[in-house]
Amino acid sequence: MQPQAEPVHDIAHLGSVELFTPKPDKSLWYFRDLLGMEPVHEAAQSVYLRGYGDYATSTLKLTTAANAGVGCISWRAASPQALERRAKAIADAGLGIGWTNGDFGRGRSFRFRDPDGHVMEIYYEEQNFVAPAPLHSTLKNLPQEYTGRGVCVRRVDHLALLASDVETNRKFAQDLLGFQLREQVRYDKGKTEIGSWMSPTAVHHQLAYVVDVKGGHGRLHHFSLWVDNRDDVMRAADILIENGIFIEAGPSKHNNSQGFYLYTYEPGGNRVEIYSGSFLVFAPDWEPVTWSEEERGTGVYWGATLPESFIQYATPNVEGEGTGKAPQFPVFF
Ligand SMILES: [Fe+2]
Repeated sequence: MQPQAEPVHDIAHLGSVELFTPKPDKSLWYFRDLLGMEPVHEAAQSVYLRGYGDYATSTLKLTTAANAGVGCISWRAASPQALERRAKAIADAGLGIGWTNGDFGRGRSFRFRDPDGHVMEIYYEEQNFVAPAPLHSTLKNLPQEYTGRGVCVRRVDHLALLASDVETNRKFAQDLLGFQLREQVRYDKGKTEIGSWMSPTAVHHQLAYVVDVKGGHGRLHHFSLWVDNRDDVMRAADILIENGIFIEAGPSKHNNSQGFYLYTYEPGGNRVEIYSGSFLVFAPDWEPVTWSEEERGTGVYWGATLPESFIQYATPNVEGEGTGKAPQFPVFF
């Protein structure tokens, strides 16, 4: 397929995600002691953490709040010039919030909202992690040692957001952020866009938009962390269940992305995925894969259906049965 216009390559990758939690101490225990992330900084209402393989100083910001949900989603620009270009394009589209002076470990950023209302930012200046002596790795190319604590996730991988209008948000990510559309789910003979999976990198997807069946705005479906193989995902299931963490689905394998997954709720209520497998995409002219409801089946490669909560629950949570805007059958991930 020939691209319609010169592709935008101004976003390098997903930089970090801020999660809101009403139970900060228990959420920190989950990410630090069970998932094995490293706390690197504390501020008044936030703790900053990282995976052992993340090159940046911090990739997860846990912020105390009344309700669970997602805060600012940070994307690193490819260059200082790319940051300026994207900031102007987004501001011209009327979605800009404005410039910030930066956050822990990184320089100034341009904040904006996607059409559904999620807060995002783009930045360029990033402080690479320099491990203190106890965390030095003998591998010169590893930012810190593999501690082996808990699941010991390597890095941040992706996040899935809910949107009342998937198509509008997908077009925003393609046109204004330059993300490549990798896969879609479309129902009603292609007329209804249920979900879209996109990425600015070779990683299969770093951002997904999936329809919010309750008609909400700015909500998080899940945040995903990478481990190197399937055994790590199954080991994670053992560790988490032994520590009283609710396992919602998996370990199993998705159709979409071929990812091997485990879904849990961290104590604050946010859905967190432990993820491996999947595949990389290198083609500049990648043809998006589109799945119909019939092809979708249960949404799971190995047949077992994902639970109803997978459609109905997101953060912040909204009570009620849903709007009927999306089918109530086969879970569409
Ligand atoms: Fe995911």
